Amino acid sequence: MNNIRIELSNIMGFIVEKDLASLQQSASNQYQNLINKTGQGNEFLGWITLPGDISDNMIDDIINVAETISTKTEIMVVIGIGGSYLGARAVIEALGHSFYELQEQQEHPLVLFAGQNISEKYLTDLLHILDKKEYAITVISKSGTTTEPAIAFRILKNHLEHKYGVQEARHRIIAITDKEKGALKQLADEEGYKTFVVPDDVGGRYSVLTPVGLLPIAVAGFDIRKLLKGAKDFWEYISKSMVDNDLNPVLEYAAARNALYQTGKKIEMMISYDPELFYFTEWWKQLYGESEGKEGKGIFPAGASFTTDLHSMGQYIQDGERHIFETVISVDKPVSELRIPSDENNLDKLNYLAGKRIHEVNIMAETGTILAHVDGNVPNIKISIPEISEYNLGQLIYFFEMACGISGYMLGVNPFDQPGVEAYKNNMFALLGKPGYEKETETIRKRIGHEGP
Ligand code: PA5
Repeated sequence: MNNIRIELSNIMGFIVEKDLASLQQSASNQYQNLINKTGQGNEFLGWITLPGDISDNMIDDIINVAETISTKTEIMVVIGIGGSYLGARAVIEALGHSFYELQEQQEHPLVLFAGQNISEKYLTDLLHILDKKEYAITVISKSGTTTEPAIAFRILKNHLEHKYGVQEARHRIIAITDKEKGALKQLADEEGYKTFVVPDDVGGRYSVLTPVGLLPIAVAGFDIRKLLKGAKDFWEYISKSMVDNDLNPVLEYAAARNALYQTGKKIEMMISYDPELFYFTEWWKQLYGESEGKEGKGIFPAGASFTTDLHSMGQYIQDGERHIFETVISVDKPVSELRIPSDENNLDKLNYLAGKRIHEVNIMAETGTILAHVDGNVPNIKISIPEISEYNLGQLIYFFEMACGISGYMLGVNPFDQPGVEAYKNNMFALLGKPGYEKETETIRKRIGHEGP
């Protein structure tokens, strides 16, 4: 079953139709490379069959751990960065109450995040909150060696042990990491933490449907079975459509964005009119940026939340340099209903909207903006889902992952590695004087002309 619709009519004026058709054929060929494991990075293709492969026992284990944690904590701090962070946050923010932490009754722990920055203020503020709350920690790092989450974990582990004692702290820490490698795995084994494994063949940014995403999402009270079912159904739909030789939204999206890229549209802005999708856009930015931006190539993934950002970015998008195209995630139906009231005096002159749902206004803003931007030479791809739910998010996650793998292959890069991320780390380690970096430390200190802060 497929709940995702794609509309390409608003790119047609910007590309040659037969180029699109040939890119759709190329997308189809690259799909075969993915599923036959004949392309680059094929040791990281576990995500393709993941929604069907994950066992009932594993799902039960995740749900049980989430329930146990929920009975004794008010807050779960999820420590991780990049692919070990964004997927969970994207789903939790998309499905959750906009002001969950302010609600009087909270059925599930509030999920907070750490280890996604190196901010002293952020961690200090978090510790102040945790002083007064019952909490637990989930620490996530596939490599088990990433600096940002390692620092946050050291600080929070220390806090937890002081608050509850070493024994109880051990019952309040869950580690999600490699099955055998890395400092986190070693620490987890020594301390006896409950652990979940990040499969070897699933890279960080493709890992939201493993315990990396599923545990925090379950702790936040959302139905991970429905999320996985959405992804699985979409995978089955895509597989069948490929066997039947039908065009499907994945091929259409991969082909459309590459067709636009070839015409000089180098920036793709993901646009959402539903603010709860803000972190979904962040997840998508990482997925596409880290997968495609290589060897001097790649569409630059950017994001905006409309109508908010129409009042900051709108001018540029309408009228600035013409190197942008937009991909709108459009949601047919919101989960709540609110109408604009009538006002006897009508001093604000809004009575022409009286009785209308807020959503109707939002949809008109979306339609009007798409037309205005197309008139301003910003092509538009529209991807629609019926509503924001676990099931549909599962479909969207799988849709974007598959399109990303295909699209990376179409560009001629390996979408499953990230060699460029190492450059900043090496400099940071050299500047901090990490053992083993002595030569680099000397070079970089000469380059900046001092010893650092
Ligand atoms: O997609 C990726 O591989 C990265 O974004 C990683 O998820 C990120 O760097 C965190 O790595 P790790 O889970 O090893 O700490």
